[in-house]
Amino acid sequence: MKIIQVKDYEEMSKKAAAVLAAKVVSDPECVLGLATGSTPEGAYRFLVEWYEKGLLDFSGITTMNLDEYKGISKENEQSYYYFMKKHLFSKVNIKENQTCIPDGEEEDGEKVCREYEELIQSVHGVDLQLLGIGRNGHIGFNEPCGEFMKRCHCVTLTESTIEANKRFFESEDQVPRQAYTMGIGTIMSADRILLLASGEEKAEALYQAVCGPITPNVPASILQLHDQVTIIADEAAMSKMNYQS
Ligand code: GLP
Repeated sequence: MKIIQVKDYEEMSKKAAAVLAAKVVSDPECVLGLATGSTPEGAYRFLVEWYEKGLLDFSGITTMNLDEYKGISKENEQSYYYFMKKHLFSKVNIKENQTCIPDGEEEDGEKVCREYEELIQSVHGVDLQLLGIGRNGHIGFNEPCGEFMKRCHCVTLTESTIEANKRFFESEDQVPRQAYTMGIGTIMSADRILLLASGEEKAEALYQAVCGPITPNVPASILQLHDQVTIIADEAAMSKMNYQS
């Protein structure tokens, strides 16, 4: 694991965008695995800015998002579909049919997950996967549980995740209780992984993911077994690690 410590959210975002931009420039037909949440928002802002300056071309890029809430419409502002459109897809020249997100409107979870996994296989997997990390160490929506779930699956969100994500909804009741997510095996199949972490509330999860035992109770800890992982984390997210070392 390569860990890059930066000062704050802004520096994390700029460096992350630089890694993604370098991939887009050097491999214009690559497959990017994308993430949602407040963590990658800043990186997407920089990508849009550099695209507007004529520095980036997304026309050949394919994207595979990590996850989506189940039972949420695409028009819902809290859907990850809406998030990606708002923050990136509507602002750069990416082709809509090359942007892929699990279908949160489809009730048949088995169908959604099987088809999404096949879709990822059909583009020969993800070249560079962007990840955030949940306060409980989740990646995508792979929640702490008794085993590493290999492939795309439907997950029941933990109370901790519902609590963390309720800030995006009008009330806690409106947070969907289930989601579709790439599995741990799907994520680990990516050639390269870029994990971002910002803020003190991520410090314990990051510490456990990097320094703790590899356990499905901390899903991000599996990344210790991937040989092409870069972590960009700000001082606050690194605080536990710096304290321990
Ligand atoms: C969400 C997403 C994850 C994200 C994480 C952290 O539930 N499913 O992909 O990394 O939680 O979110 P945030 O970046 O808003 O802290």
